[in-house]
Amino acid sequence: MYTETVMDHFMNPRNVGEIENADGVGEVGNVKCGDIMRIYIKVNDEKIEDIKFKTFGCGSAIAASSIATELIMGLSIEDALKVTNKQVVDALGGLPAVKIHCSVLAEQALKAAIYDYAQKTGKTYAGLEGFDPTDDHDDHHDIVEIEF
Ligand code: FES
Repeated sequence: MYTETVMDHFMNPRNVGEIENADGVGEVGNVKCGDIMRIYIKVNDEKIEDIKFKTFGCGSAIAASSIATELIMGLSIEDALKVTNKQVVDALGGLPAVKIHCSVLAEQALKAAIYDYAQKTGKTYAGLEGFDPTDDHDDHHDIVEIEF
């Protein structure tokens, strides 16, 4: 049911923890399952110099956040905003359909962290338009949009 990559990132998650004095912190939750994900970013010269996460959630959410931090580390903010849950799922070698929303949570938490950074610094980024950090992230529409 789960790929080896999912199991690996679930058993040995990368970049777990908090960043003290983070430049941006994003927290999102899923009302359906009650899982919560928090992502911390450190920004230097418009690049994501460090990223850490804490996930109070299921194994797929932990694996998705872990691999998402690997995908995002070192990217420019602009490029980080282009990372989609589909890329996260692909990097994991796939997730069961009922677990796709767990990867959406990782994408949303990253956006929320960048949104927080943008709010604090007064910057604007393409890709944040219409983003609402208070959204309940009930992303069932995203599930049907994903093609495997
Ligand atoms: Fe909710 Fe995975 S079951 S994030």
